[in-house]
Amino acid sequence: MTLSIRPADPARPDFVGEVAGLDIARGITPAEAAAIEAGMDRYGVLVFRDQPLDDAQQVAFSRHFGPLEMATGDIAQGGQRRLSMEINDISNLDCDGAVLGRDDRRRLFSLGNMLWHSDSSFKPTPAKYSMLSARVIPGSGGNTEFADMRAAWDALDEETKALVRDLVCEHSQLFSRGTLGFDAFTEEERAKWQPVPQRLVRRHPRSGRLSLFLSAHAGAIRGWPIPEARMLLRDLTEHATQRQFVHAHVWRPHDLVMWDNRVTMHRARRAPPDQVRDLHRTTVADSAPTLEQAA
Ligand code: OGA
Ligand code: MN
Repeated sequence: MTLSIRPADPARPDFVGEVAGLDIARGITPAEAAAIEAGMDRYGVLVFRDQPLDDAQQVAFSRHFGPLEMATGDIAQGGQRRLSMEINDISNLDCDGAVLGRDDRRRLFSLGNMLWHSDSSFKPTPAKYSMLSARVIPGSGGNTEFADMRAAWDALDEETKALVRDLVCEHSQLFSRGTLGFDAFTEEERAKWQPVPQRLVRRHPRSGRLSLFLSAHAGAIRGWPIPEARMLLRDLTEHATQRQFVHAHVWRPHDLVMWDNRVTMHRARRAPPDQVRDLHRTTVADSAPTLEQAA
């Protein structure tokens, strides 16, 4: 069977594709990688069902799309890490495989994934693609939602488009976690996660489509008073996450979901805190800081 992609929701033909005819664990060909990248250009999010993967297979697949990021945005370092530095640990587990306690710093930090965001927008060069592999899924809840930031841009009125077109935001994990009242950062983390600039409107290098580049990590706009900046970012996020722009992915074990962080935001939804939820994420870095990319 050859690779095919169809819209997850026929009513929304250019957002979220479902891929069939591929066995990722076996390894993919350059032609298949090119077809996937073309699918990403159109859909922004691709869903691959029934792909049992180990970390090495997931890394090998991910490398077809560019150099991988290291998981330096994680709060668990050194002896506390459960997985290798190429894997972002999107789980509620400690090194012994036990569910993290309610007050565990790693758990409280990871609740930030429930805010709408784009991965690694707090890094000077943010993420291109993320690949999230479902290893263990809870009995209920725990969906991941995706918002189409191209459609959100297209739907803005002309006055707002002109207002935001050339704005530059500052992104930091200190901002996103601060929204939740989490401030248990070490001095080292505070220094490491100082704000970085990102364009608010960007153009996809292949599709040419414009999109809003929003994220919970955005906490300032260059040249703007902070409250005015945060209010605009809040308004834009509210606009961009209206239900007509949002797709909810309901996880099955062995799903692999891949998204383009340049054109989407995503968020985790609540799951029962005592049930295991274990997903592994690989992340492909973008080519350059957004200010160095054509607008
Ligand atoms: C991520 C993320 C959301 C989720 O993996 O980057 O934000 O539903 N995950 O776990
Ligand atoms: Mn994320």
